[in-house]
Amino acid sequence: MTRMIAIAGKGGVGKTTCAALMLRALAAAGVRPLLAVDADPNANLHLLLGLPQPVGLGAVREEILSGAGGATSKEALLEAMVQQRVAEGKDVDLIAMGRGEGPGCYCYVNNLLRQSLSRLAGGYEAVVVDNEAGMEHLSRRNLRRIDHLVIVADPSPRGIAAARAIRGLADQLALPVGNAWVLLNRPYAAGETGEPLSLPAPLLAGIPHDPALPAWEAAGRSFLDLPDGAPAVRAISGGIRGMLREDVR
Ligand SMILES: Nc1ncnc2c1ncn2[C@@H]1O[C@H](COP(=O)(O)OP(=O)(O)OP(=O)(O)O)[C@@H](O)[C@H]1O
Ligand SMILES: [Mg+2]
Repeated sequence: MTRMIAIAGKGGVGKTTCAALMLRALAAAGVRPLLAVDADPNANLHLLLGLPQPVGLGAVREEILSGAGGATSKEALLEAMVQQRVAEGKDVDLIAMGRGEGPGCYCYVNNLLRQSLSRLAGGYEAVVVDNEAGMEHLSRRNLRRIDHLVIVADPSPRGIAAARAIRGLADQLALPVGNAWVLLNRPYAAGETGEPLSLPAPLLAGIPHDPALPAWEAAGRSFLDLPDGAPAVRAISGGIRGMLREDVR
């Protein structure tokens, strides 16, 4: 069954970076093909995957509700529109959720959209969802279940408190969460000793500050092509192996 992996964390902590690194590690571990979902209205995951920015699915709702497509059933139309909006890569395809809905009742079309996304997701070995900061929107659309919730955190006391709050919110979501993990990003800044921290979920990995990442980003290169030896890649690869072992159990 398709593994559903969702990434959460406070603003600017490294969610999108970690999403791209996780896709890189999953592909290298043989988990292919992969679907990346950019659920941030300010979509930017494509920039790290070397893909064009896909047209967001947000506007699809209005199109469906406005009666586009004539006699075609709304299900079939939505399915076709979702398919059209997939940006295709070698190992990783990408879809963007776009902006949220405006005022009005979108329950019906949201349900259809969820169904179409589920069908789309079914064709992949794993789906990685990069979210905007916070947690509230996670339950609203796109997902029916989360197998792995990866909370990206910095190791400061405030960073860990934010991770704990997100973990708490996850328990209140309407959608079931299988495993939760903490992914510490840049755990040991200069001068820090790396004392053991009390985390709200098992540690997936600690990703060091890796100058290759901003350099790669500035050059517009895909993180999927980062070398095996890059420190961030090595760290995340170990974490992904642990996650995959958890799936086998
Ligand atoms: N381990 C790291 N080493 C070096 N640079 C990093 C690392 N992690 C993140 N960065 C840099 O930090 C910046 C913010 O990262 P990123 O965009 O992934 O955060 P985000 O949580 O997705 O932000 P937002 O909440 O705005 O979506 C980027 O410029 C990225 O290159
Ligand atoms: Mg981001």
